[in-house]
Amino acid sequence: MFIKEVMFHIHLIMAISWIGGSVFMFVLGITLRDKKAQQEVYPHIGPIFGWFEVVALVALLISGFYLGGYYNLFEVLMHPNGSKISDAITKKAILVAILTVATILHFVIAYKTNGKERTKLENFFSRGSSMLIFFLNLFVMHYAIVLRDIL
Ligand code: HEM
Repeated sequence: MFIKEVMFHIHLIMAISWIGGSVFMFVLGITLRDKKAQQEVYPHIGPIFGWFEVVALVALLISGFYLGGYYNLFEVLMHPNGSKISDAITKKAILVAILTVATILHFVIAYKTNGKERTKLENFFSRGSSMLIFFLNLFVMHYAIVLRDIL
């Protein structure tokens, strides 16, 4: 019970950090339009933000897997039964899987191209994945709340 409470607190703090970080970067992306300012700001905050988000996501996944195990949700995930909880965990798991792949893609491009000119394709995948991560987060939050309401 104590470990579960600790894991849940970690899960919540990391969810706040992860989503808060992505909302802040979204606002920065919209408001910081000046090319010169971007070239000065991004090379510095990019790597710090990147590692901050990686740590938050890894901690979210570890604590999430623990909580999923605690509530026997993987059993439900493997054998969906049409209940509200089965629906919520299935949707949350699918969204988190897509989110994780999009984050890896975004991180790899950002890491390879930080401080350099990007190709059109790199720009497309980098911007596309960050938009996707931002919007998926809102839905993950929704299903997390639905799940917690039932548990
Ligand atoms: C990007 C990844 C994730 C985010 C942003 C996230 C977010 C959240 C949030 C905000 C809550 C609290 C909801 C509330 O208090 O109303 C929560 C609860 C929960 N999450 Fe996640 N989560 C993530 C990944 C996962 C994963 C991978 C699993 C496991 C498959 C998981 C399992 C759970 C469970 C079981 C709860 C309820 C815990 C309880 O009521 O004690 N989460 N999540």
